[in-house]
Amino acid sequence: MMYSPKQSSATSASTNVTWHDHAVTRAQREKLLGQRGLVLWFTGLSGSGKTAIADAVAERLHKKGKLTYLLDGDNVRHGLCKDLGFTPQDRSENIRRVAEVARLFVDAGVITLVSFISPYSADRRLARRLLGSDFVEVFVDAPLSVCEARDPKGLYARARAGEIKNFTGISAPYEAPVHPEIHLNTEELSIEESATKVVAFVLARQ
Ligand code: ADX
Repeated sequence: MMYSPKQSSATSASTNVTWHDHAVTRAQREKLLGQRGLVLWFTGLSGSGKTAIADAVAERLHKKGKLTYLLDGDNVRHGLCKDLGFTPQDRSENIRRVAEVARLFVDAGVITLVSFISPYSADRRLARRLLGSDFVEVFVDAPLSVCEARDPKGLYARARAGEIKNFTGISAPYEAPVHPEIHLNTEELSIEESATKVVAFVLARQ
């Protein structure tokens, strides 16, 4: 999809701004890079394996000469989204911003990996609408019990103890995707096996 002002994710407070079509196009950038940009949107519970799998996918694609970039929730919340918490409204804004950032990256021709819980279907739908056919939803699926047993950051224990409010899976919802392009059952698949599936999907789209 061409980057254009037509699809926007927010009501506009910007007035007196004019859209410019630039001299170098996405198609030219993609030709230079020898690849097609797309967005791999990893969604799933905390501890489901989103970032570990995205990392493995990025590493493998990089070794094959593909330009990738990983946008990771925990990291983006240190900068661009550091003003946002975990209320439904803040999560929506978090996802809106990262979808817009992903749109810029994919317009740059980059294979963009997005690793956010993104628990609300409506927010993911907005990202899909914004990104069109560039959007590839990857459901990183593990039961809550498994994620809680892994508890890599010790957050589930703290959420159960009431120390963290609005924690996804415990005191806030996770709305699972119904028709993801890629469905990874990470209770059964290893990180490497999951990565293999995603890499195959990407290479088939190049
Ligand atoms: S999202 O829901 O807005 O997509 P995001 O992926 O950016 O979430 O951030 C999730 C990360 O924030 C988790 O991996 C975890 O480390 C941390 N976190 C802190 N508080 C919460 C919470 N209440 N619910 C979920 N994750 C939390």
